Amino acid sequence: MDLGLDGRVCVVTGASSGIGLATARRLSVEGAGVLLVARHVDALDLAAASCGPGRVATLSLDMTGADVGERALEAARAELGEPWALVNNAGTMDVVALADLVDRDWNDQWDLNVMASMRMMRSFAPAMARGGGGRIVNVSSSSGKRSSGNNAAYSVAKTAQLALSRAYADGYAAEGVLVNALAPGMTDTPLWHAEGGLGDQVAAARGVPREQALSDARAKIPLGRFGTEDEIAAVATFLCSEDAAFVTGAVWSVDGGSVPTVI
Ligand SMILES: NC(=O)c1ccc[n+]([C@@H]2O[C@H](COP(=O)([O-])OP(=O)(O)OC[C@H]3O[C@@H](n4cnc5c(N)ncnc54)[C@H](OP(=O)(O)O)[C@@H]3O)[C@@H](O)[C@H]2O)c1
Repeated sequence: MDLGLDGRVCVVTGASSGIGLATARRLSVEGAGVLLVARHVDALDLAAASCGPGRVATLSLDMTGADVGERALEAARAELGEPWALVNNAGTMDVVALADLVDRDWNDQWDLNVMASMRMMRSFAPAMARGGGGRIVNVSSSSGKRSSGNNAAYSVAKTAQLALSRAYADGYAAEGVLVNALAPGMTDTPLWHAEGGLGDQVAAARGVPREQALSDARAKIPLGRFGTEDEIAAVATFLCSEDAAFVTGAVWSVDGGSVPTVI
């Protein structure tokens, strides 16, 4: 199936690991030129080496900076050309009980999920509109659709990211810039499985062995397992494609049935 991405320029944040890396790889397999954005240069270089055949470039950038939109747009243009698609995916979380969350936790989640996505869209959406259209995908979370007890600051920011996504979808529909959000459920990425990651943190918070924490989490998912990063990337890639030409303002759950709602 031709997704119409060959030769297009796409920018993916949080592209050195997990869902972002899987999305960058898929876009690149479709022939898109991809700018991979994250903080750590070594991981970015490794990630870039695993992409192709589309052209690849990297940008080391902390997405919480005030000028991320301008810098990413400038890098995309300089390295690859005018952007067609943007995937706002950079994100992270730790397990913190509601009573233990401090102002910094709330501000950090807001900056990374809401302000970074807004700053990127504020730069990219007008540029895409001038170029005749484009695609933006905001990677939120099932925790944005129903609050997670693991970190309320993360959930609240992910819910706000959904509202932000809808605002940009409405603001740019007439100009052909289609904006959608993804709500992945629990997914097998380093966020969960790295040493000290969510697997270990949930186990510590509940006082159970890591394997039990993970199997209890799996048992809550109707499909009985975590998603793979490639399963989330497949939907993100579709939303970046020509085939998604009548989809905007949507939130696509990719969660194995975890959030039991009909919208
Ligand atoms: N895995 C899940 O179960 C799950 C479920 C729902 C939603 N999500 C969402 O999916 C997205 C990707 O998660 P993942 O599981 O793939 O995580 P991951 O494997 O930990 O990858 C996170 C990526 O984000 C980058 N990043 C983190 N903080 C950054 C910052 N301040 N500036 C720039 N880049 C930053 C990381 O690179 P650097 O550290 O080098 O910057 C890395 O490339 C996140 O938004 C997450 O909230 C994940």
